Amino acid sequence: MMINSRRKFLASISMLAASSVFPVSQFNFGQSKKLRIVLVGTGIRGTSFWGKRLVEAYSDILEFVGLSDINPGRLEYAKRYIGVDCPVFLDFDDMLKETKPDLIIVTTVDSTHHQFIVKGLNFGCDVLTEKPLSTDEWKIQEILKAEKSSGRKLIVGFNYRWSPYNTKIKELLMNATIGQVTSVDFHWYLNTYHGASYFRRWHGLMDKGGSLWVHKATHHFDLMNWWLNSDPYEVFAYGSLEHYGKNGPFRGEKCRTCEYKNKCDYYFDISKDQRLMDLYVANETYDGYIRDNCLFREEIDIYDKMSAQIKYANNVTVNYSLTTYSPFEGWRIAFNGTKGRIEASLDIPYNEKVKIDQAEMHAKEMEQNALEEANFEDIIVHKLWNDYDTIKVKYKKAGHGGGDQRLHDKIFKTSHIEDPYQRAAGSRDGAMSAIIGIAARKSIAAHKPIRIEGLTDIKPSIDRT
Ligand SMILES: NC(=O)c1ccc[n+]([C@@H]2O[C@H](COP(=O)([O-])OP(=O)(O)OC[C@H]3O[C@@H](n4cnc5c(N)ncnc54)[C@H](O)[C@@H]3O)[C@@H](O)[C@H]2O)c1
Repeated sequence: MMINSRRKFLASISMLAASSVFPVSQFNFGQSKKLRIVLVGTGIRGTSFWGKRLVEAYSDILEFVGLSDINPGRLEYAKRYIGVDCPVFLDFDDMLKETKPDLIIVTTVDSTHHQFIVKGLNFGCDVLTEKPLSTDEWKIQEILKAEKSSGRKLIVGFNYRWSPYNTKIKELLMNATIGQVTSVDFHWYLNTYHGASYFRRWHGLMDKGGSLWVHKATHHFDLMNWWLNSDPYEVFAYGSLEHYGKNGPFRGEKCRTCEYKNKCDYYFDISKDQRLMDLYVANETYDGYIRDNCLFREEIDIYDKMSAQIKYANNVTVNYSLTTYSPFEGWRIAFNGTKGRIEASLDIPYNEKVKIDQAEMHAKEMEQNALEEANFEDIIVHKLWNDYDTIKVKYKKAGHGGGDQRLHDKIFKTSHIEDPYQRAAGSRDGAMSAIIGIAARKSIAAHKPIRIEGLTDIKPSIDRT
């Protein structure tokens, strides 16, 4: 490790301890020690973004000392793919005892996050978890309790906040460009490639991902909470499953062997993607997980059409919808304020000059090192009694709109630098975003609005500063 970079890192950690700018607080560094990391959940996100990319970008300050998963084949593959030679463990507890890490990274199936977060905090480690924080309110409560009693800290990897486009919206709102925000229209469209893929995978089962209200919309609700700088107060929602699952005209065992492959619009040839073959297909025998599963299978029990009204503690009302079978993937938002309106949108094909390849779009977003030209994307600011202004934001699609890399740098390199936009997310942010989706599920089941207060012991605040 270069002396300089180690000094910088140690200094940043001590700044964190002093100011809690970012919630990683108390790594116990010796003079020659690198940050000892273990990762649980060696799937696609764990091996790429939190595995290979950390090794490639930050090996001077951190080292992987253990990997854990329930699938032994995937564990061996992960070691090769990430490029590490650390021990692997089928048992998470054994890994903690043997490796005594500083930081645990959790990238397992959503409904299991809480187990590893709670055990990790109680073992005396800091924890970094992928979104969503968790899928149920009681699990969130356990996490909050463990963080408090252990004195350790939790980071939630909300990457969308770090995209320059989303940060620009935050800046405009922080500067009260349209006065006080009173209402918001927020609509997210998933296409028949990416949107459909959730129904092929474990995400299609409520008890694995908590439905897309939680798995996917936690990103959107986190942006909303952060943009509005207030907490949700009450949620009323509708949701149904009308397109995928039992609604399909036929179904097969999996795409590879399906007798309907020639007439199914959703046929997906996994054999064309070597990474997916190595990660999942080669390891099916260990856990039976089928990555090219049928999206019309009867067991799917999540919604594919979702809409909600969310009332915030500061009186803002939000109209939100999530569609999972759109011909294009993109989103639109409009903020109405006392002095005007902000409109923003990304990837709406009719607004773009160039044709967007819908099949490759998601792969590009997940790609970390894509060579691509930056585009300029528009945000419209329309003040009352004035003509509108168009603000141009430089934007690249790769790595979730540039958010992924910035999030990593913030955690591992620049945590000591104060961030005027407060993009670092901890347990409260994770809790308040997941809880909106959980409340939406409850609202659908009960046909009534659900109050946020009482679901966990966090009291909604009007102003989160
Ligand atoms: N922030 C983002 O943009 C983003 C993008 C993709 C995924 N994610 C999140 O990352 C996490 C992983 O998603 P993925 O797409 O890599 O899924 P995946 O299915 O590829 O990987 C999940 C891994 O967890 C393992 N696993 C499941 N249950 C386990 C248990 N009880 N103990 C140990 N291992 C277990 C599985 O064997 C698998 O290897 C999810 O929480 C997901 O929401 C976030």
